[in-house]
Amino acid sequence: MNVRVPVFAPLSPMSGTARLASTETAFAHDPLEHMLTRLRTSNDMAFLQPLVEQLAAHRVRTTERVFVTLSYSQSLDGSIAVSRSSPCSLSCRKSLEMTHMVRSFHDALLVGVNTVLSDDPQLTVRYCEGDDPQPVVLDSTLRFPEGARLLRHLTRKPIVITTERAPVDRLRRLEDKGARVFTVAQEQGRVDLHAALRLLRSLDIGSVMVEGGASVINCILARRLVDYCVLTITPNFIGGVKAVDSLCQPRNATPLSIVDCRYQTLDRDLIAYGSLSCR
Ligand SMILES: NC(=O)c1ccc[n+]([C@@H]2O[C@H](COP(=O)([O-])OP(=O)(O)OC[C@H]3O[C@@H](n4cnc5c(N)ncnc54)[C@H](OP(=O)(O)O)[C@@H]3O)[C@@H](O)[C@H]2O)c1
Repeated sequence: MNVRVPVFAPLSPMSGTARLASTETAFAHDPLEHMLTRLRTSNDMAFLQPLVEQLAAHRVRTTERVFVTLSYSQSLDGSIAVSRSSPCSLSCRKSLEMTHMVRSFHDALLVGVNTVLSDDPQLTVRYCEGDDPQPVVLDSTLRFPEGARLLRHLTRKPIVITTERAPVDRLRRLEDKGARVFTVAQEQGRVDLHAALRLLRSLDIGSVMVEGGASVINCILARRLVDYCVLTITPNFIGGVKAVDSLCQPRNATPLSIVDCRYQTLDRDLIAYGSLSCR
């Protein structure tokens, strides 16, 4: 991986614009510099600078594990979809642009196979400039549909992480269509997330944005594997698929929290962001 060493300006309570200016030279010659340039030219998105700084710092200081950003959109009642089988667009245009910008900051973008089955997502960067991340799908038995749009990307064919429960013929067919399929250890019949992240690291992936769906969000939070959150809260009541369920068991378990949580409005949506207490 291309790792250069930037000098980091300390995080300070300066305005977004002032902080961007003060760190301008800090990232000189670093590949992440172009991200800061994009933030500089987009006033609304300057609040993403701490995330970019953490991604850069992580790359320099810790190379043995993947930096994980959790980013999804939910309604006021905590729903991420109306039902598991139908796609549902929650975010306003501005927060979609933000989400795509966050995608472009990361080496990889991870979802569960149910999201592929229900939404047939492209997992690309379309609402802003930037490189597409590497799509990664957790899929213990290779239910991945062979007609999925992810298989049509010209250069970024999906990485599918599976277990020994996957039928060999399905594995071969997906590989024939260009997917890179890797088998890792299982935990309770599903892909072991620790093993999946170790695998990604060994593939030279330093940062992953986890977008969903609910099962993957629950699992990654329960395993305490999240470094940073960028959550979009939209002004709807849905009463649908809850993003998070039964995390604090037993009852007296300490809730996970975003340290020094900050908020940003993007048109009608509210973005809550910051580092998670679990790492
Ligand atoms: N609002 C948003 O931002 C957003 C983002 C993404 C998705 N969504 C929505 O989320 C819904 C899908 O959510 P979902 O909970 O049904 O499915 P999901 O999280 O997308 O996928 C879950 C599936 O992934 C597989 N998996 C393998 N290893 C896993 C692990 N360690 N932990 C968790 N899952 C693992 C399991 O299937 P196997 O056992 O077969 O491997 C599991 O059933 C869709 O409606 C979609 O539209 C919303």
